[in-house]
Parts: sequence; C-alpha cells; structure tokens
Amino acid sequence: MAKKLTVPDIIAMKAQGEKITMMTAYDYPTGLLVEKAGIDTILVGDSLAMTVLGYESTVPVTVDEMIHHTKAVRRGARNTFIIADMPFGSYNSGITQAVANAVRFLKEGGADAVKLEGGTEVADVVEAVVRAGIPVLGHIGLTPQTVTQLGGYKVQGRDQKRARKLIEDAEALSRAGAFAVVLECIPKNLAKEITERITIPTIGIGAGPFCDGQVLVYNDVVGLFEKFIPKFVKRYAELGEMALKGLMQYKQEVKESIFPDDEHSFD
Ligand code: KIV
Repeated sequence: MAKKLTVPDIIAMKAQGEKITMMTAYDYPTGLLVEKAGIDTILVGDSLAMTVLGYESTVPVTVDEMIHHTKAVRRGARNTFIIADMPFGSYNSGITQAVANAVRFLKEGGADAVKLEGGTEVADVVEAVVRAGIPVLGHIGLTPQTVTQLGGYKVQGRDQKRARKLIEDAEALSRAGAFAVVLECIPKNLAKEITERITIPTIGIGAGPFCDGQVLVYNDVVGLFEKFIPKFVKRYAELGEMALKGLMQYKQEVKESIFPDDEHSFD
C-alpha cells in the first residue's frame, strides 16, 4: 500500500516535477475506488451539493452535511490525503468562525486539510486557519460559491486586469501559508504564469496542462452527472448508462417472472 502523503510531500512533488492527482469523492464506495486507483489526494468538494444532493448550486450545503460526507469518504480511503471543502458561509464571517469550522472538519470529519474559495480577500482567514495547525488548499478563478458575482460559469481572467488580480490572489494565498491552490477555469497560459510564479503547487481544473496537478469531479469523470458537461471534463467511464441498462433489465425480468430464478432462490 502506498504511503499516505503529507503536506511537505505534496509541496515536494512540485519541485520534483511529479504531477499531483486529485479526484473528488463524496461517499464510502467512491473513497474506496479512488484510493484503490492510487490517486494522490481526495477532495470532498462542495460540488456534492449539486452532484449528489441535487441542489442547483453549491451554496445551500451545510458544514454538517459536508462533515457527514467527509466521514464516509474517510472510512473508504483510510490511507489517502483528504481535503474537505468549507461550504459557503462557513468562513465568510471572519477568522473565529473559519477556524472553529475548519477544526470540525479535522476532528469530526477525519480530513487532513480544508479548502476555501477566494484570493486576497480571504488571505487573513487562510493565515489564521494555517496558524491553527490546519493545512489549507486555496481556490481561485471560477469560484462556484460566488458564481453569480462572477457572471456565471465562464472562463475567468481573460483580460489583463483580471489576470493580474488572479496572479495577486495566488501570491497572497502562497504568502498566507496555503499548501497548494486550485485554479479553476482560467486560460492555460495564465495558469502557466501563476504556476511558475508561486512555490506551492497549482491544481488545475479547466486550467490547461501546465499546472502542477489536476482535479476533476468524480461524477463528471465516470458519467454520473448529466445536467451540464463543461469543456474541460473528459469522460473516462459511462457508469450512468451501464446502471440504467441494468435497472431496466431488472425491471423487465421481474415483470416477466425471469428473476428470481433457481440460482437466486433457496430450497
Ligand atoms: O467542489 C469541488 O468539487 C471543487 C472542485 C471543482 C475543485 O471545488
């Protein structure tokens, strides 16, 4: 079994030029699968609000719900570095609230680290959480918790002013002590520039090939989320289609008294 990574291991991977793999997971069976696949790190993303709880955005999910899912993932992936997403409203009122909630993710959820969205405006919060002994993954670019302010799910940092702001955000998070930063939905050359400027790893999602690592949403990767498929998503499996086929066959076999047969019955 591979050794569970630590924060210094993850930072060292950037220096060694080894790509960092990250996948979201929201429950026990997915935790098991992601660990078995040997993926370096798991993100219990607040994307679970949409992918598994059926909300229209990530905003409604609560700290208690996120902890519930983080605990399940941890039971499946005992040996993988797990980052739990702090949901909207759980760190936005200031340092005391942020530290208290981050502590819950480690103590109750079994996470190794937390992620929160934002750049310069949350640098003081990131610094305080790190000072409390909790590793923080930053997240800039397309930040789904504030998608309305950003004008929808679209590529960020296309003009010079916004690109400069994203560079400043990444630098501020690095100075604040974040161990890595997610770059979501930004042009690949901007991601390259950020990756070259900061010493901590960048983890891209829709940010091109020059990031130090990549993250994708599990349900997108395995074909279990149909509402919208962003351009940056690559489908590696079609579990949704397979499950539907199986369920339809089950229904038909029960209706036609084919199932259960002798093989699936007791004498
Ligand atoms: O919530 C999530 O899954 C995320 C990833 C898309 C980075 O934040």
